[in-house]
Amino acid sequence: MAELGEDVESLPRGGFRCRLCHVTVANKPSLDDHLHGKKHQRLENLRTVRQAQELRSVFVSGFRKGTLASELSDYFQAYGEVANVVMDKDKGVYAIVELQNKEVLEKVLAQPQHSLGGQKLRVKPREKKDFKYTPPRKQGSARREQLSPEKLAQNLCQADDVDAQMALMVQLFEFSESERRLRDLLVSLIQEVFLEFFPGSAILPFGSSVNGFDVSGCDLDLFLDLEKTKSFQASAKGPSEAQADNGASPERDSRSEDSILSDIDLASATVPEVLELVATVLRKCVPGVHNVQAVLNARCPVVKFWHKESGLRGDISINNKLALCNTRFLQLCTEADERVRPLVYVLRYWAKQQALAGNPFGGGPLLNNYALTLLVLFFLQTCSPPLLPTVDHLRELSGNEEQTTVDGWDCSFPKDSARLEPSSNTENLCSLLAEFFRVFENYDFAGCVISLREGRPLPLPSFLASEVGHKLKLGPFNLQDPFELSHNVAANINEKTALHFRRCCGAAAKYCRSLQYQRKSSKGKIWGLVRLFQPGSHEAEAPGAEGFVIDLPPMLTVLPAQSQEVLCRAGDFHQRWFQKVCTAVAFVLRDVLKCSCVETQQGSQEGWEATGSKQEKEQQEAKTEQLAGSKRSLEEEDDDDDNDKEGAPSPPSKRSRADTLLPAGKSVAWNCDAWHRVWLGRRRVRRQLHGLELGSEPKSGSLELEAKVSKAISQQEGEAAEPLLRFVACARAGDGMSGEQAARISLSFAPAPEQAATFQEFFHFLQGFLPRMVEQHLASVA
Ligand code: UTP
Repeated sequence: MAELGEDVESLPRGGFRCRLCHVTVANKPSLDDHLHGKKHQRLENLRTVRQAQELRSVFVSGFRKGTLASELSDYFQAYGEVANVVMDKDKGVYAIVELQNKEVLEKVLAQPQHSLGGQKLRVKPREKKDFKYTPPRKQGSARREQLSPEKLAQNLCQADDVDAQMALMVQLFEFSESERRLRDLLVSLIQEVFLEFFPGSAILPFGSSVNGFDVSGCDLDLFLDLEKTKSFQASAKGPSEAQADNGASPERDSRSEDSILSDIDLASATVPEVLELVATVLRKCVPGVHNVQAVLNARCPVVKFWHKESGLRGDISINNKLALCNTRFLQLCTEADERVRPLVYVLRYWAKQQALAGNPFGGGPLLNNYALTLLVLFFLQTCSPPLLPTVDHLRELSGNEEQTTVDGWDCSFPKDSARLEPSSNTENLCSLLAEFFRVFENYDFAGCVISLREGRPLPLPSFLASEVGHKLKLGPFNLQDPFELSHNVAANINEKTALHFRRCCGAAAKYCRSLQYQRKSSKGKIWGLVRLFQPGSHEAEAPGAEGFVIDLPPMLTVLPAQSQEVLCRAGDFHQRWFQKVCTAVAFVLRDVLKCSCVETQQGSQEGWEATGSKQEKEQQEAKTEQLAGSKRSLEEEDDDDDNDKEGAPSPPSKRSRADTLLPAGKSVAWNCDAWHRVWLGRRRVRRQLHGLELGSEPKSGSLELEAKVSKAISQQEGEAAEPLLRFVACARAGDGMSGEQAARISLSFAPAPEQAATFQEFFHFLQGFLPRMVEQHLASVA
C-alpha cells in the first residue's frame, strides 16, 4: 500500500483508515476526498510545523527552581535567536527551548558546558516523537468504548459455538493496536523524564499490559528499577564503589549535580522516602500526569497516578522484581497453548460479573486478577492430560543461562515457549470451561495449599511441616505464589467469598451441563457464555429464593434401552421411575454420605426435631435398615422390576417402603442427620485412598470409593455426640408431564432454621454431587 502513503491503512472489505486524523472511510473516492479535505491538510501542516520545532529545540534542566522563561531565553540568545521557551508545568524543573533554526541549535549543542546563575545546565537535543493527534471528542480516554453487557451478548450470540464465543471474547477485550502504541508512548514519556532525575534507571511495565491478558483500559503497572542508579550514585560519591562490579555504566557527566538525586542517598533511603521522591517527579515533571498519590501501606507500596490525555491509570513500584518474573511466566503460559488466553479472559469476565474477582479500589475480599489467573493455570496443570507444565517441570527445562534467583526465590524457567512440549490434551474450550467449574465447585480451598510449583494441592499437615509452611498466611483460600512460595495470593479472601466462589462455580457447572450452554439457540434466545455472564446468575438458584432445591435432570437414559422400554410401557411408569430415583437418593445420603436417613410419612416433613442424639442415631440406623431395606434388597427389587417383561408390579413382599408410600402425593421425605463435614476435603481423601489402593490418579469417584471417602472423613473427625446438621429431604415427581419429562424429579431440603448457614455449604456440595451419584446408582442397579 506504498502509494497510499504512511498515514493510510487499508481495511478489509475495501475501507481505509487515516491514522493521522483517526478517520475511517468506506472506499477510495472517499479517501481521496478526505486526503484533500481541510482537516487532513490542517493536521499535515501542524505535524510539519511540530516536527520542525522539535528538530530545533533543546531539553534543558539543572537550573535553579524559580528560574523564569525570560532568563533562559536571555541566556540562549547568546548563540542566536530564541523562538520560544516552554517551562514545565510546575515551573523550574525543566524547559524546552526552541531556537530560531538548526544552525543556532548546533552552536548550542557544540558548547561543552552551560551554566546559569552559578548552576550547571544540562542541555540535550529533544527526543524524536511521533506526531499524535488526539481527536477532541475522545480526549481524556484511551479506552476503547466500553462494551456494554447488552452489546457483548449480541456479539456472542452470533458466534457459531462456545469455542467461537470464547475466541471472540479475546478479540473484543484485548488492546487495539492504537491502545498498545499509546501505552508504549506513555511508558517512553515517563522513562524519558525519570532518566533525567534517576540516571541509569529503567521503567519496566509488568502485569496485564504485557502478560498476555490485556484488557482495554486496564491499569498500567510499572516497575522503576533503580539498581543502576544506586551504583551510579555510589560511584559519583567515591571512585572505588560499585559501578564496575555490576556493569552499570550510566554516563558519568555532570548529571549528578543537576539531578534530584543530590537530595537523597538511594542506598540508605527507606521505601516511603524513595516513593515520595518518585511521586514528586511524576507530579512535577511528567506532562499530563495528575492525581499522584503514594500508597505506602499496601503489601507492595506504590505511587498511583492518572494520565489525563490517555485516560490511563497507573502504579509505579520500586520493590517488585518478582512481579517482572511472574509476568514473564504468565506470558510463557499464554505462548505454550493458545487455549490459555480465551479461558482466562472468559473466567476473568465471569468472575467480575459475579463480584468474585477484580481489583476494586481499596482492595476488599475479592480475588485479584493475578490470583484468579493463577487458579486457571493451576487447573490447566492438573487437568487430564495436563495442558500446562508445573513450575518445577519448567525449572528442569531451563538452561544454565536461565537459572535465576530473585529476592531469594528460584525463578528459573525457559524464556522461549518453543522449549516446551505441546500438550496432548485435545479438549476444546467449551468443555475445559465446564470442567473448571466442576473442579472448583466443591474444592477444599481451606484444607490444602494450591501449588502451581508442584501442580497439586498440598495437604495442610505436610505443607505446615515444610520450610515455608509457617510463613504462608493460611486462610479460607490458599493459593501459593509460584515463585514467592511464602505468599498466599488469596490471603485477603474471607470465608464468605470462598463460599460464594464455590457456589458460583456450582451454579456455572450446572448450567454448563445444559443444552443452553452447549448449543447455539436456533430461536434467537441467549445461549452459551451469555447466561453465564449474567450478574448474580447463580442467585436465582441459590437457597433462599426458592429454598434448597435440586432439580435432578432426566436420567432415564442411564438405564439400558431394554429396561427403559419396559419401564415406559408399564402403566405405572411414573411411579416406578420415581421409586427407583428415591431409592437411589436414600442410598446416596445414607450409604455414600453416611447420613442418618429415616423415611417419614409420605410427603410430610415432620421436621428436623424428629431425630437427635447419638442413641437415636443408632436406633434410626437400625430402623432405616428395617424400613427402607438394605441396599441389597432394594437393588434386588430394582432388578426384579427391570426383568419384569410384562411390566407387572413386584410382589408386595418385596416392595420397599418408598414404594408403598408412593402413589397419592408423588413425594417421599426423609429425616436426615449429617454427623460430619463430609463435603470438605473429599478430593484430598479421594486421592489418598485411590493412591493407596491403586497407585494411580482417581477418576471421578465411584459409589464405592465415595462411600469410603465419607467414612475416612468421618473417622478423621472422630465420633460426634450430636449431629452436625439436621434436615428433611423431600423428593417430588414432576407433575403433569409425559415421556422423558416425567422423569424429572426435584429434591428439596429443609434444614433446622439455625443451621441454614452451615447447611448452605452442604447443599452447595450436594448440588453437584448428588445428581452424579444418583445417576451412578441408577446405572449400577439397572
Ligand atoms: P493484578 O492483580 O492487577 O493483575 O496484578 P493484572 O493481570 O495486572 O490484572 P489487571 O491489572 O487487574 O487487569 C498486577 C501484577 O502484580 C503482580 C503480578 O505480576 C500481576 O500481574 N502481583 C499481583 C504479584 O506479583 N503478586 C500478587 O499477589 C498480586
